[in-house]
Amino acid sequence: MTQSAPASPRELLVLGIETSCDETAAALVVRSPDGRGRILSNVVRSQLDQHRPYGGVVPEIAARAHLEILDTLIAQALEETSLTLSSVDAIAATAGPGLIGGLLVGLVTAKAIALARGLPFVAVNHLEAHAMTPGLTDGLRPPYLLLLVSGGHTQLLGVGGIDDYIRLGTTLDDALGEAFDKTAKLLGLGYPGGPEVDRQAKAGNPARFDLPRPMLGRPDANFSFAGLKTAVRQVVLKLGKPTPTDIADLCASFQRAVVLSVEDRIKVAMGFYADRMGPGAKRVLVVSGGVAANSELRRCLTEMAARHGFRLVVPPIHLCTDNAAMIAWAGAERLALGKADGLDAPARPRWPLDQTTSPLVGSGRLGAKV
Ligand code: KG4
Ligand code: ZN
Repeated sequence: MTQSAPASPRELLVLGIETSCDETAAALVVRSPDGRGRILSNVVRSQLDQHRPYGGVVPEIAARAHLEILDTLIAQALEETSLTLSSVDAIAATAGPGLIGGLLVGLVTAKAIALARGLPFVAVNHLEAHAMTPGLTDGLRPPYLLLLVSGGHTQLLGVGGIDDYIRLGTTLDDALGEAFDKTAKLLGLGYPGGPEVDRQAKAGNPARFDLPRPMLGRPDANFSFAGLKTAVRQVVLKLGKPTPTDIADLCASFQRAVVLSVEDRIKVAMGFYADRMGPGAKRVLVVSGGVAANSELRRCLTEMAARHGFRLVVPPIHLCTDNAAMIAWAGAERLALGKADGLDAPARPRWPLDQTTSPLVGSGRLGAKV
């Protein structure tokens, strides 16, 4: 039951723009008529240095930083290919979910280029772009089971194709990357904390601290990391001034608890995936988002997927984290299906992929938060 690539009568060259969080990015991607993708350029500028003093992303600083650099990055993406805007067939930009100020910067820029050049414009859902990335990197077509774990998102999705998603699980509180970052902050490890927790954990004893394994054994496939974070805080308070060994052991113990919880949630989602997507659904598990870089998570999920007869696909890490190649690719896929948008397409700070499942958190006028 593999979805075939929608045929497009001709090659499409799409300029993608990403400004939803703390990376400004522009990329050029070609989609060939048989549905294969090729990245011509992919420029990403991180704002980490601007946000680091605050220990997290400051929305106003993010929006200003996008505004300052975006036109330069678009020029750079074009320069690297020796192409000009005259060769571009369409402009795609992230319209949500994300921080409203940044989204507006990317959207207004993309719409202005589309208007000036008379080109189609595609409003891309950032989550759909993450979900479609394996098509670009591995030529993988839906259906597949997707674990999306980043600083802003933690979801398990059945991916059926463009505009066809079933939310199988989501976090009830913190995103997984957020939990890594907060744990790192408690331990004085700097921001973003995920890579440092990963590094420290390599030298630590995962059995030293008995931390809760959130949601283990629950019949749904949802996540929760707030309790684990609180447990880490209590250990840190008890330790007083943690030694380097304490820090390494706590990172390893935290990571162990996370991995066991995530494995358990995926196991439940695998059952839902088979039930909801039909018996022919391919047994493929895709992991994307910044936390896919975590070495222990990758090691354990490779084994766990194999145990359950699933193939694990993890796109190259620079395409798992936020980038504009995935936005251009999702835009090209939508365009191949005739799904361009009007220039009145709004920015959508909240934009769940699965519009049919009721929100678990943050319902209301703006839509589901998760
Ligand atoms: O996808 P991403 O680059 O940006 C968004 O949040 O959209 O993900 C960033 C998140 C941060 O929370 C960061 O701490 C986490 O991914 N991260 C990691 C690792 N590398 C990045 N978490 C755990 N282990 C890592 N090796
Ligand atoms: Zn992202």
